[in-house]
This record gives sequence, structure tokens and C-alpha cells, in this order.
Amino acid sequence: MYTDKVMEIFSTPKNVGELKDANGIGNVGNASCGDIMKIFLRIENNIIQDVSFLTFGCAAAIASSSAATEIIKGMTVENALKVTNKQVVEALGGLPQQKIHCSVLVEQAIKAAIADYKTRL
Ligand code: FES
Repeated sequence: MYTDKVMEIFSTPKNVGELKDANGIGNVGNASCGDIMKIFLRIENNIIQDVSFLTFGCAAAIASSSAATEIIKGMTVENALKVTNKQVVEALGGLPQQKIHCSVLVEQAIKAAIADYKTRL
């Protein structure tokens, strides 16, 4: 059901764990599947200097989280806000239709983490 890329990223995900000096944290969940995703950002001078995630969810959610952290690392806050779940799906070489919501969850988590960052300014 999953592409080789999804399985590869799922087995060796990048940027896993809590970022101790995060200044933006986004916590989202999907009520229907029960999966939970947390994104940690360290933003300095409007640039995402570091990013990590903790995801309690399916393989697609974990692979989406890892791919998304790699996409947004080094981006400006404005550009990270424009990242869509479609870009995440592309980075994974596709997701099954019933797993698209896993990539939507990470888009929501990034937006939530940036919103949290903005409340701290
Ligand atoms: Fe819900 Fe993957 S099944 S996030």
C-alpha cells in the first residue's frame, strides 16, 4: 500500500524527538483515527533553524512528519506557512487516498507551531 519512499522514511525518520529550546510548538490530532502529532520549531531571525517532531500515529503520519521537517528546515516563517500537504505527499512519492489526512495533519501541526511562536513574540 505504501511507496518505497514512505517505507524508507518510516524506517529511518529524521528529526525525531523533543526540541529542548523550541520557541514554537504545534500539537494537533485527528479525532477519527486518534493519531497525534507534535512539531517543535526553533526560529531565529525569522528562519526555522531547527525542527523536530513527536508523532504517535501510523506509518504515513510518521513519514509525513519526517519529510515535512526536512522541507521546512532553513525556511522563513512565511515560506513554511505556505507548505502544503501536497508537497509532503510528493516528497513521499505519493500516499494512498485513505492516508492523505496524515499529510494534512503535519501541515496543520506546522501552522499551529508557527501560530504558537507568534504568540510568544
Ligand atoms: Fe490518521 Fe495516519 S491514520 S494520521
